Amino acid sequence: MVEPAVTVYAGDQQYPVYVGRNLLTDRALWEQYITTAQVLVVTNDQVAPLYLPPLKSVLGTFVLEVLPDGEEYKTLSSVQRLYETMLTHQFHRDALVIALGGGVIGDIAGFTAATYQRGISLLQLPTTLLAQVDSALGGKTAVNHLAGKNMIGAFHHPQAVLADVQCLDSLPARQVRAGLAEIIKYGLIMDAHFYSWLEDRGGQLLAQEYDILHTMITKSCCYKAKVIAQDEKEAGQRGLLNFGHTFGHAIEALLDYRGILHGEAVAIGMMIATYLSQTMGWLNADDVARVKKLLASCDLLLPLPPEITPVQVWEAMKIDKKIWRGTQRLILLRSIGEAVMCDAPPKEQVISAIAEMQV
Ligand SMILES: NC(=O)c1ccc[n+]([C@@H]2O[C@H](COP(=O)([O-])OP(=O)(O)OC[C@H]3O[C@@H](n4cnc5c(N)ncnc54)[C@H](O)[C@@H]3O)[C@@H](O)[C@H]2O)c1
Repeated sequence: MVEPAVTVYAGDQQYPVYVGRNLLTDRALWEQYITTAQVLVVTNDQVAPLYLPPLKSVLGTFVLEVLPDGEEYKTLSSVQRLYETMLTHQFHRDALVIALGGGVIGDIAGFTAATYQRGISLLQLPTTLLAQVDSALGGKTAVNHLAGKNMIGAFHHPQAVLADVQCLDSLPARQVRAGLAEIIKYGLIMDAHFYSWLEDRGGQLLAQEYDILHTMITKSCCYKAKVIAQDEKEAGQRGLLNFGHTFGHAIEALLDYRGILHGEAVAIGMMIATYLSQTMGWLNADDVARVKKLLASCDLLLPLPPEITPVQVWEAMKIDKKIWRGTQRLILLRSIGEAVMCDAPPKEQVISAIAEMQV
């Protein structure tokens, strides 16, 4: 039987993350988790034709909700639709929600499971690289509000995460790159050896070779699990995972979340944070060149979109949720493999670092 690649310890809960092939059809694995007759599978219209058939072959009866694809559906209306379905089928507190899809489906299904009858069981079946290395574990669930992204949410951990690497075969290359940005982030903030390992493989990282993907996903989940074990609710250390994200979120918001993927915005944000780390005297020019080179080899060395200015990014950063007790907090690099929290960074220096990314 397949063994967990990683175990997440979060407060008094713990759960496994499986990484491998054929997990969607692994009957022995499923039998451990399908302990109720009330199962809701939540997916979207892109993923359903691809991965519902194998899942159907192992699940018994279940209720299915296929949502439209897209971040614009990560709303309370979608959650309401799932509540209605569960209420119509008289789902009890022992019901199970299965999220089959990328981070959007994981967040919608996760928030629904967190709030239906004060919380029911959840299984995460992430089908994008980003979801497998980041969003499916850690317990953050949320939907968007007109006032902002992820404004309504809850912490709710899954019973297990099943990251079937084969699902990535159908993932568009651009989505693979977006997931790679988060993987590079883990190397930059937590492990210089892993960063070198990524550098050694360079452009090969995009080739979607099974062994490389398996290693990257497992390692990334290990790093995330380590941070969660120390700081489940983001009171301190978990904030380090936001490296590149404060800039990235500002860029996404300024573009109205259109035309840029989260991972792409994070890649731009990581490069800005790298320049700022050099300005602060922590990184040298060689370190900066290394970051540039790895991002370039993964097609992630992207310019600041020409329609936005550095000052606009600075202003947009103020509405990010990562403002800490009224102070702007940025995550920077003390060295490659070690992140540091930097409170109230000087405005002029931040704007200059953002300007480095202009074409
Ligand atoms: N909860 C968290 O901790 C957390 C962390 C990071 C990001 N997020 C959220 O995750 C979301 C982004 O997730 P994402 O990048 O996975 O985007 P996504 O869920 O929108 O998926 C990207 C695209 O790929 C398609 N897709 C999914 N799996 C596929 C597959 N195997 N083959 C082909 N196409 C496939 C989707 O239908 C979609 O069109 C954002 O809403 C973000 O806020 C949450």
